[in-house]
Amino acid sequence: MDSIIDEIKSKLDIVEVISEYVKLTPAGVNFKSLCPFHKEKVPSFFVSPEKQIWKCFGCGKGGNIFNFIMEIEGVDFPQALRILAKKAGVSLKIKDYHFTSKRTKLLDILNEATKFYHWYLLNSKNAHEAREYLKKRGILIETIKEWKIGYAPNEWRKLYEYLTKKKFKTEDIEEAGLIVKSPDGEYYDRFRGRIIIPINDLFSNPVGLGGRILPSLEKEDVPKYINTPETQIYNKSKILFGLDKAKLEIKKRNYSILVEGYFDVISAHKAGTKNTVAISGSALTIQQVKILKRYSPNVILAFDVDPSGQASTKRGIDIALSQEMNLKVLILPEGKDPDECIRKDKKLWLLAIKESKPIMEYYFSSAFKEFDPSKISEQKRVVEELLPVISKIGNLIEQDFWLKKLSDQAKVSYEILRENLKKYIKKDEKEEEEEFPLIKKDQELEIQERFVGLLIKFPEHILSFYEELKDEFFATDKLKKIVNHLKKIYSLISLENEKISYQEFKESLIDEDLKTYVDFLTLAIEKEFPNLENKVVDKDLEFLFKRIKKDFILKKLKELEIELKTAEEEKNKEKIEEISKEVKKLTEELGKIK
Ligand code: GTP
Ligand code: MN
Repeated sequence: MDSIIDEIKSKLDIVEVISEYVKLTPAGVNFKSLCPFHKEKVPSFFVSPEKQIWKCFGCGKGGNIFNFIMEIEGVDFPQALRILAKKAGVSLKIKDYHFTSKRTKLLDILNEATKFYHWYLLNSKNAHEAREYLKKRGILIETIKEWKIGYAPNEWRKLYEYLTKKKFKTEDIEEAGLIVKSPDGEYYDRFRGRIIIPINDLFSNPVGLGGRILPSLEKEDVPKYINTPETQIYNKSKILFGLDKAKLEIKKRNYSILVEGYFDVISAHKAGTKNTVAISGSALTIQQVKILKRYSPNVILAFDVDPSGQASTKRGIDIALSQEMNLKVLILPEGKDPDECIRKDKKLWLLAIKESKPIMEYYFSSAFKEFDPSKISEQKRVVEELLPVISKIGNLIEQDFWLKKLSDQAKVSYEILRENLKKYIKKDEKEEEEEFPLIKKDQELEIQERFVGLLIKFPEHILSFYEELKDEFFATDKLKKIVNHLKKIYSLISLENEKISYQEFKESLIDEDLKTYVDFLTLAIEKEFPNLENKVVDKDLEFLFKRIKKDFILKKLKELEIELKTAEEEKNKEKIEEISKEVKKLTEELGKIK
């Protein structure tokens, strides 16, 4: 197993993999960026190509390439393994790895179900109506194949029986969201008489299904669309339909088009606008916005964004604005959705894209359409409509621009608007804080880690501390072990008058946990000394060592104080004397340090 992991690691470069998610900039021998896992203004997320690790010094998260994928994609180790194996072009034979999990089982089930429904649509007599319906919608065989569109026959257990024959467990099929238990305990297929649209993750693995009812089965109390419910692998708030096929194109064109429905995406791709993805009828979430932003900060919204419209849509737009996304709004000819528009005339769609307007312009023109500057009620109306949106704009220069514009057009003083803006902004910041609690490291440990990190990075300084340096100064076993090891290695080395490289030092540690730990310790040092200047290191080490000694003595004194109390209670004269001597000695030492 380890060999597969090593093979994948050796074929992938951590910098390249992480670059697909965040914009890395060089920082000495490393790379840095804003942390994708917590909100920050100054970069504390570092990636080391030499050590093949990443670490955020703000929120404390870090690890190797596998941990990164697990963290950013919200997947478990076996799933991360699949993702990276695919990227590295390493084939995982199911039988030669026991890296399976509930998640990978569910992925296998979804994959099998997608193939089954797809096969059924293309081959079964019973799918005749479905094929005709798709044809009428202008969906050709090649499109069906490209999107692996399927058909779930209008029967109770076709899929369930098929998957059972394939040896999948009922429990797992249910957890994949494909079957439903009836009140009398019988299982039946969730999707019946529906066109099936596979919903893929970013790596084109189906994680959920959408199903549109056949027109002949449409009834008032039957929903037009159903989806698989939330499962371990299908998290609605994180998925954008079509993104696996659109991501490269979004990067290339540097904007995405966001639509509402599955068929809107399919039609848009066919029309050549392959940078289109869908929210699939739900509200735009902060996770979706962040995922889109990886590929481009520019988005054209091709659904109803009227400020007086759905609250959920508004919330989504607020989120995107606060993430400093550039939003444009596309207006389609009356009453049409993108799919209908494209089918009627592709040129109308392309023109609408070309003529899309920045969202603030759109909001302003709709708010001021019937504005009467002579009425106070009108002034209040436009301000109440526009100020909340302006407050959401993450970029302060841009925010100020629209504030001035509102002041001009509404004839309300700029200062008053500014004042009013505050109440909206405050509310938002609170929400953000709750979402990303930061880890507070204890200062003593931080100092010790820094000292040890510096020593590993600049071992030539160890001689200045050699005699005084004791493992008991350090708070954790790991640090103690490393300090002892450092002393051992460098006593040998200095005898031979040789130098040892960082890699050699690391390898000599044997224990894998310790190796990882020294990687993090030294990355923390490289972060602060990108150019590795020796002079500062000198003073830093000295200062840190004093602190460590001082902390140690103070801790010791506190312990002795307690011991002294017990000794006094016990009236143990010998002990009292012994402790007092020790206290005196330590106090003197403490005095020397100061
Ligand atoms: P067509 O009528 O097939 O063209 O669908 P549409 O995409 O034009 O449908 P609509 O604009 O009504 O809905 C847009 C998207 O919302 C769909 O693609 C679905 O993802 C979702 N949706 C629509 N109706 C339902 C529903 O009844 N239930 C659920 N869960 N989602 C729906
Ligand atoms: Mn439609």
